[in-house]
Amino acid sequence: MKYFQTITLTDGRTCVIRNGTERDAEAVLSNFILTHAQTDFLTTYPEETTFTVDQEKEYLKKKADSDREFELVAEVDGMIVGTAGVDLIRAAEKTRHRASFGISIEQAFWGIGIGWALTNACIECAKAAGYSQMELEVVADNRRALALYQRAGYVEYGRNPRGFHSRKSGWQETVLMRRELDN
Ligand SMILES: CC(C)(COP(=O)(O)OP(=O)(O)OC[C@H]1O[C@@H](n2cnc3c(N)ncnc32)[C@H](O)[C@@H]1OP(=O)(O)O)[C@@H](O)C(=O)NCCC(=O)NCCS
Repeated sequence: MKYFQTITLTDGRTCVIRNGTERDAEAVLSNFILTHAQTDFLTTYPEETTFTVDQEKEYLKKKADSDREFELVAEVDGMIVGTAGVDLIRAAEKTRHRASFGISIEQAFWGIGIGWALTNACIECAKAAGYSQMELEVVADNRRALALYQRAGYVEYGRNPRGFHSRKSGWQETVLMRRELDN
C-alpha cells in the first residue's frame, strides 16, 4: 500500500506523510523509543522494545511491500516525528475485514495537525486495502487521542476497567473504539 502526501501544519511548517522504508529504520526506532518514554498512554515501556535496527529495517520493508498492512511516518524538516500503522487483526476468513490502528507522535510536535493527518491517511489506506472496520484501544484519560478519534469517526463500543496496568498510576481503563470504513 503506497501513500505519499505533503500537508501544511497549523504552525506553517510542511509535513510529509509517507510509507516508512528500510532507510528510515534507525529514525523510526528512535522515535518509537522516545514517544514511548514521553507518555504513559502507550501499551509498552521503551525498554520493552527489543527490535534492532536490522529487525526494524526488515519490518518496514515487509510493511512497505504489503497490500494489507502498512506503517506511515510523518516527516518534518527531514526528521521523523511520528508514526502510525495499520495491521490485520487476524487473517481468518471471518476476521480479515478488521484492522487495528496505532499512532504515536513526539511530544514537541503535538497539537499542530500531525495526528489528524496520520489518522486520516491510515483510514484512506485501510479503505483502499479492502478493510471494512478499523479498531483501536485508547486509555480513557487520553483526552487528546479520544477527541481526535471521535472527530475522525471512531465510536466507542466498550470499556475495559483493567485494560492496562501502569507503573505510575496503576489500573488504566481503556476505551475500545471502532470505525466502519464502507461509507
Ligand atoms: C494522540 C496524538 C496522536 C494526537 O496527535 P496530535 O498531532 O497532537 O493531534 P492533532 O494536532 O492532529 O489534532 C489535535 C486536534 O486538532 C484536530 N484537528 C487537527 N487538524 C484538523 C483538521 N485539519 N480538521 C479537523 N480537525 C483537525 C483534532 O481532531 C484535534 O482536536 P482538538 O485538539 O480540538 O481536540 C498525540 O498526542 C500522541 O502521539 N500522543 C502520545 C501517544 C498516544 O497517546 N497515542 C495514542 C494511543 S491510543
